[in-house]
Amino acid sequence: MIRVIEVGPRDGLQNEKTPISTELKLDFIAKLAHAGLKEIEATSFVSPKWVPQLGDAAELWPQLPEGPRYSALVPNVKGLERAISVGCHRVAVFTAASEAFTLRNINMTIQQSLDGFKDVVEGVRAAASQSFVRGYLSTAFECPFSGRVSVVDAARVAESLLELGVDEVSVGDTIGVASPREVRELTSALLSLAPASKWVYHFHDTRGTAIANTAAALELGITAFDSAAAGLGGCPYAPGAGGNLATEDLVYFLHREGLETGINGEALAQASLEILKALGKPPVSRAQLASLASCASSQMQ
Ligand code: HMG
Ligand code: MG
Repeated sequence: MIRVIEVGPRDGLQNEKTPISTELKLDFIAKLAHAGLKEIEATSFVSPKWVPQLGDAAELWPQLPEGPRYSALVPNVKGLERAISVGCHRVAVFTAASEAFTLRNINMTIQQSLDGFKDVVEGVRAAASQSFVRGYLSTAFECPFSGRVSVVDAARVAESLLELGVDEVSVGDTIGVASPREVRELTSALLSLAPASKWVYHFHDTRGTAIANTAAALELGITAFDSAAAGLGGCPYAPGAGGNLATEDLVYFLHREGLETGINGEALAQASLEILKALGKPPVSRAQLASLASCASSQMQ
């Protein structure tokens, strides 16, 4: 079974200008749960001034439908306090392999972010025995401000995240530039630090390489991938970041490879269509477009 971690309600919505109500977010998440998504990153306890779309995190969290395991982004102790106060104990801290992006995204150096995360990790472990902490490593291949990132630099920050005692590290191709060769090189370095179960890939699909990158990572034993329904997503502080790998495309690919996910593609497509309608956007996922086209042609017959 491959783990598919749905980040649409967080990564997918954070970049959208059209305000989405808490009620609509809950409906989107309920439909994702119905489609079989078992791990959903629901929101962020970041500064609402920095990401206004997710300013309702504390209202949303207690109303999440039962079933999936939910998590949320937390950048600092203030965010953790807000998360804990509504019962959120599965958190994701986030830093990057490049200084320039870290400064623009969280207004800290990499070292300042890691120092602050120590308190976040300790705080959530003390608050709940069932806590879970993910560490994000953004710009693992390239930074939109300072260019290419070396494997050595990416692996060094990944190792620092592991040293904090996180449960897993999600390795982000934030602006969607990497190719399978780069994924193989980085994965080999990461696997020399910790086993495959510690690593997740988070591919944005700006240039259409995310599925090829997923295939490369799978071959090296990685079994967990982030994706967003309808291919929504992007970071407001990473110019040029396209949408995430669409969950529809990931699920189609995995199933066709004979790998199980427990996700129902048709129910997922329904969840995506409704959030796209609310955002006033057309579908872009290849798998979704193909299935819409085949529905349309069967209706014409
Ligand atoms: P700052 O302005 O340096 O913060 O922002 P500060 O500590 O100076 O505080 C300023 C004000 O913000 C204060 O309020 C704080 O209380 C408040 P004031 O006194 O002015 O009224 N504040 C908060 N409020 C609510 N929740 C909080 C919080 N913290 C401080 N947690 C900060 C620093 C980290 C807060 C800010 O930079 C921030 O929120 N950044 C988040 C940016 C973000 O969410 N980016 C997108 C997610 S990352 C991503 O998408 C990449 C990923 O998908 C992986 C990939 O693709 O690579 C994960
Ligand atoms: Mg992302």
